[in-house]
This record gives sequence, C-alpha cells and structure tokens, in this order.
Amino acid sequence: MDERVITNHELKEDNFEGTIRPDSIDEYIGQKEVKENLEVFIKAAKMRDESLDHVLLYGPPGLGKTTLAYIIANELGTNIKTTSGPSIEKSGDLAAVLSTLEPGDVLFIDEIHRIPRYIEEILYSAMEDFTLDIIVGSDSSSRNIRIDLPPFTLVGATTRAGDLTGPLRDRFGIVAKLNFYTEDELKEIILRTSRVLDTKIDENAAIELARRSRGTPRIANRLFKRVRDYALVMGSGCINLKITKIALDRLKVDALGLDETDYNLLKSIIEKFNGGPVGIDALASSIGEEATTIEDVYEPYLLQNGFLKRTSRGRVVTEKAYKHLKLKENQTLFGEADEN
Ligand SMILES: Nc1ncnc2c1ncn2[C@@H]1O[C@H](COP(=O)(O)OP(=O)(O)OP(=O)(O)O)[C@@H](O)[C@H]1O
Ligand SMILES: [Mg+2]
Repeated sequence: MDERVITNHELKEDNFEGTIRPDSIDEYIGQKEVKENLEVFIKAAKMRDESLDHVLLYGPPGLGKTTLAYIIANELGTNIKTTSGPSIEKSGDLAAVLSTLEPGDVLFIDEIHRIPRYIEEILYSAMEDFTLDIIVGSDSSSRNIRIDLPPFTLVGATTRAGDLTGPLRDRFGIVAKLNFYTEDELKEIILRTSRVLDTKIDENAAIELARRSRGTPRIANRLFKRVRDYALVMGSGCINLKITKIALDRLKVDALGLDETDYNLLKSIIEKFNGGPVGIDALASSIGEEATTIEDVYEPYLLQNGFLKRTSRGRVVTEKAYKHLKLKENQTLFGEADEN
C-alpha cells in the first residue's frame, strides 16, 4: 500500500484512532441524514425490543464506517462481534462467528464485498430467517443441518458497493452511503480531536487543516497529529496557522489537499493523453498503478472536487485542474509557507 501522508487507507501510525474515535452518535460529526435515520431506526428497534434491521455502510476509506458500526452497537446497548470478508475463507469461518452471537448482537463484517460467493449464500438465510444451514460430514455421509440463530444485526461495510451481489444487497434493510465531509465538519472533527488529545489549535489553523484533508476524517486526524509534532518542536506546542502551513508544505500536501501522486495522475493525463478522455486501464499502466487503486483511492477526491471528470469515453482533466497545476508551475511546486 502507498505511504502517502494523505492516503485514506489506515496506516500503522493511525493506531491512535481508537482513542479519538467517537463512541456515541452525538459525538459523530456530519453525515446528518445517515445519523438522523439511524437514530430513528435504533430507537424504534429498542422500543419494539427487536433487533435492528441489517445495515450496509458504504463509501470511500476513512469516512467513518467502522466508527459508525461500533456506535450502532453502543447505542443499541449490545455486543459487537467483528470479522472481515477476506478472513472468511471457509463456510466454517462464518459459522464460527455466527454461532457466538447473542440475541440483539451486532455482527460487523468489514470489506463485506470480499466474502467468497458460495459462502455468501450461507449469509442469506442467516440474515433473513436467523438460521444457519450448513453441510456437515463429507461425501457419502454428508448431510444438511439447520441451526437456529438468535436475532442479530449484520452491519456490513464496503468501499465498493458495486461489487456486492444483488441478493446480498437486497437483504440489508438499511443502506447508508457515507459522503465526503465539508470543511466545516472537518474543522469540528479537528477541534474535537484537539480536545481529546489535549493540544490547543487556533481556529484558523483548524480551518487550514480541514481544507487540506480531502473531505476525510482519517486524513484530518493524521495531519493533525503530524502538525502537532511540528508545533511542539518549532513552537510552544499550540498549533497556529503559520506552523500548520509550514508543516503541511513540508509534508507536501498542497493548499487543496493534493500531493505528488495527484499531480502525477493529472499531469500524466494532460501530457500523455492530451487531457483525456483516457480509459482507466491505459491511465493505470501509464502511471504504473492498479486500476482499482486509482478508482478506490486516488480518484474519488479528484472527482468530487472537480479536478477530474468521468465521461463515457474515459477520464478528462478539468479546467480547474489545469488552473491549479499552472498556478503551481509558476511557483515552486511545494514551497514553504506563504509567510516566508
Ligand atoms: N463522523 C465522525 N466524527 C468524528 N470522527 C470521525 C468521524 N468519522 C470518522 N472519524 C474518525 O476517522 C477515523 C477513521 O474512521 P473509520 O476507521 O471509521 O473509517 P472507515 O470508513 O471504517 O475506513 P476504512 O474503509 O478504511 O475501513 C476514526 O478513527 C475516527 O476517529
Ligand atoms: Mg473501517
């Protein structure tokens, strides 16, 4: 995996996520619609004393899917058991987790799109009728057995909702798409993190950090942590605007959150493909990346922010990207902060 400071994938250094992860729905910032709906459904389930409908959470990495899964269990007042698509290799793996469930529990399956198809089918009856149909024994002595499961809530998370099969998707009563966060919401998240980590940050510094965080709380928190180090070593420990700019420029994150990988991608379309349209596979081989990495990791933010457009004939670089790159060409690509 890439080592960009602004990668939206979880890095080792994000292991502090546990301490700053909000654990109630009130502390979960943004995603207003998703939150409001979930609050109603959770309340209703509790009033009826029933398990909550199965929930599918999807959206780019680092937007708070795992966080929300834990919050759902907390708000329901139940246990959460977790597993992930890639770690379920045999039907027995799934049967093993299912059989640990107690009534009302949340079963969180991360990267649910990566469950092998034939195992997925076991999930259907588990989700629909709370029964587990498995085959025991081998060859001539094999037989089907059916085990009753307690009512439970499956919370599935995926960055690629399109990779889910129709039948699996249809079995989720609640489907929630997480969106990129606004600058204001990210500022809130940064201010919250600053309180939790007991490090002061000026409001304008928080806004600057928010602007460069690609709409992603994970990135905001990671940049916060890095800038905090600069503030400690170069200043008094408090994070101000000047230190924030110096730190982010040194980390090579530009004013809009783009880094060298973004530049390479945009420049490659401009220089090698005349600005596009270019197909994803041609683009992938031209910058030496997997097509899926481009689609899942690089592109979403560039698309969302209008640097890149997707057309039926491929990706096209926008006017905004040209302007942004040109601006940068006239200056040194990543200079020190403005003040210098
Ligand atoms: N709405 C939010 N409010 C406050 N902090 C948030 C919010 N969403 C996410 N975070 C912070 O961002 C971090 C990353 O979120 P999380 O791990 O839930 O993302 P994810 O969507 O599960 O990512 P992945 O797809 O990589 O699994 C969390 O540790 C949390 O601190
Ligand atoms: Mg996650």
